[in-house]
Amino acid sequence: MSRKTIALIGGGQIGGNLALLAAQKELGDIIIFDIPKAEGMVKGKALDLMQLRPHDGYDANITGTSNWKNVKDADVFIITAGIPRKPGMDREDLLGINLGIMKDVAQNIKEQAPRSFVIVISNPLDAMVYAFHKVSGFPKNQVVGMAGALDSTRFRTFIAMETGYSVQDVTCMVLGGHGDTMVPITRLATIGGVPVADLIPAERLSEIEERTRFAGSEIVKLFGNGSAYYAPAQSAIEMAESYIKDKKRVIPCASLCQGEFGVDGYFIGVPTVIGSGGVERILEFELQDHEKEALHDTLAAVQKIVSETGL
Ligand code: APR
Repeated sequence: MSRKTIALIGGGQIGGNLALLAAQKELGDIIIFDIPKAEGMVKGKALDLMQLRPHDGYDANITGTSNWKNVKDADVFIITAGIPRKPGMDREDLLGINLGIMKDVAQNIKEQAPRSFVIVISNPLDAMVYAFHKVSGFPKNQVVGMAGALDSTRFRTFIAMETGYSVQDVTCMVLGGHGDTMVPITRLATIGGVPVADLIPAERLSEIEERTRFAGSEIVKLFGNGSAYYAPAQSAIEMAESYIKDKKRVIPCASLCQGEFGVDGYFIGVPTVIGSGGVERILEFELQDHEKEALHDTLAAVQKIVSETGL
């Protein structure tokens, strides 16, 4: 079996970590793409990563480029191109700048690799993944946004921190948009199969939900100049790995809904099966009334930002 090629569009903080994780997991050859001004930076990162490989013995080739021709026929694209949030900016403030970048990226990926599987990370995520899909015209199974995987891992982290039990045994799901209106489905959160509602008092649980909603901003404030990158990178790598290895993992992802959960024509965080067919299926389940209301609110926020793209 020949190696897959993973193209990372944007070689900044998240892009660099994506490259490291993809290499360590031996997902395939890796190309880090960035704008000409940053070509030296991505070539340098690629070389540095190449020199890390002998320690663990992985053979992936890692290269840096600013030439679109070099990502021709890549199998997977993970897009972080754009600028990250600064303190005081919400994800929506990024729209103007990152939309122009996403349009350019979508056009180029369409030309170079029309059959690829594309994971969008750039913010504001809900609008960026929509824009990619519109501009590229890709079928819906080839395009997905990384949001719920990260929001859920943050929720899991805070539950594990609260109880002291292993993060490994905490499962939970966060649906909806990748913003403050996201919808943690707390009744389905468990620790080793035991509902968290039986282990954590309701008041504390709602504080944890709140912290999850603003987890990205908490890090933006601490950094003072940029946004989170380790957990976002790992979240996207899990999605890419499920595609490359046809694992059919069920991961909350921003997928194009066409009627699922009452959402039509928008990318929103829903439990998504990712396998060799890309987005293979959205797993729908019955929501309780308050969850439906919350999903309705998050959809309104997604619709608003999508309408601001003018697409
Ligand atoms: N094509 C390719 N890369 C681009 C383009 C473009 N048109 N425009 C900008 N970039 C590159 C930048 O040169 C930079 O190297 O995207 C990279 C972004 O990296 P960082 O600034 O380090 O940002 P990062 O922390 O990786 O976040 C990237 O993901 O989570 C989101 O909000 C975050 O939108 C931001 C994105």
